[in-house]
Amino acid sequence: MTMILVTGSTGQLGRAILSQLSGRGAPAIGSSRSGAGGTRILDFDDPAGLTLTGVDTLLLVSAGEAEDDVVIARHEAVIAAAERDGVTHVVYTSLAGDGDHLAFALAHRWTERRLRRSTPSWTILRNGLYAELFGSLLPWSGQRLTSAFGDGALAAVTRDDLAEAAAIVAAVPEVHAGRSYDLVGRPITAHEVAERLGATLSDITLAERRVQLDGAGLKPFQPAMLMSIHTAVAHGFLARTGPDLAELLGREPADALAVAAAAALASAPEGFDGRGA
Ligand SMILES: NC(=O)c1ccc[n+]([C@@H]2O[C@H](COP(=O)([O-])OP(=O)(O)OC[C@H]3O[C@@H](n4cnc5c(N)ncnc54)[C@H](OP(=O)(O)O)[C@@H]3O)[C@@H](O)[C@H]2O)c1
Repeated sequence: MTMILVTGSTGQLGRAILSQLSGRGAPAIGSSRSGAGGTRILDFDDPAGLTLTGVDTLLLVSAGEAEDDVVIARHEAVIAAAERDGVTHVVYTSLAGDGDHLAFALAHRWTERRLRRSTPSWTILRNGLYAELFGSLLPWSGQRLTSAFGDGALAAVTRDDLAEAAAIVAAVPEVHAGRSYDLVGRPITAHEVAERLGATLSDITLAERRVQLDGAGLKPFQPAMLMSIHTAVAHGFLARTGPDLAELLGREPADALAVAAAAALASAPEGFDGRGA
């Protein structure tokens, strides 16, 4: 029987992938840095401790919340371990093809290149930006939503759809060997999110958004990363949809607007009197 290992399974995407795989009866285990919840301990920052023996299919969830040199070293370490330990196939969660202008694109594209010359066979899942993320990037100012996305649309996709697509691929990796899928959803705008919530939305400039982010106590790399999302969406670079997600799922993608609205609603001020998501 083949064994699938899902990295980052303490995270939101990895956990959902693992749950999808177990729902399909696929033999899968998860890994994390801490070993929390019975996961196998795999810390990409500790190359000497990376062991993938017994793993046939590695579902490598990007560990992207860091500077490029750190992310690239992590992904190099885990791909090298997969080669050494005889992993047959690596599925990697990358970034949508239209995401090249984003500050975190480089580490994804580096990893794609590295996989293309690795010894295991591979599948690249070029994930669009999460609907959950889009909704969370619309901060409240009193009872109003604010947005620096202007009229720009994002071909947003729900985490659960991405998890299901990843599980579908990992369950029969040989069918998807050497393939790259662009997993983007239907374009949604900040104004549509506000309308869905019955909220008033105030447009703010990129400069005003940067001031908010600079004062938010983020990690040093995060403001630039988030600003790159704002300018790319605002200027129409992430609006394009495509057929790959629906084809892999065998159904239409979930309602990304509803999920983005729910994410925005989660941080609504007490007493927000919109219509609800
Ligand atoms: N498409 C999008 O909109 C979008 C948005 C945000 C992030 N992302 C990318 O997609 C990935 C998954 O998203 P998510 O929502 O599941 O993020 P998440 O909930 O923050 O989970 C991140 C996972 O990465 C693991 N990780 C971090 N550093 C690691 C390391 N050095 N070695 C091994 N594992 C490590 C974490 O494991 P531990 O429990 O061990 O910390 C955690 O399980 C993120 O890591 C990021 O690269 C995509």
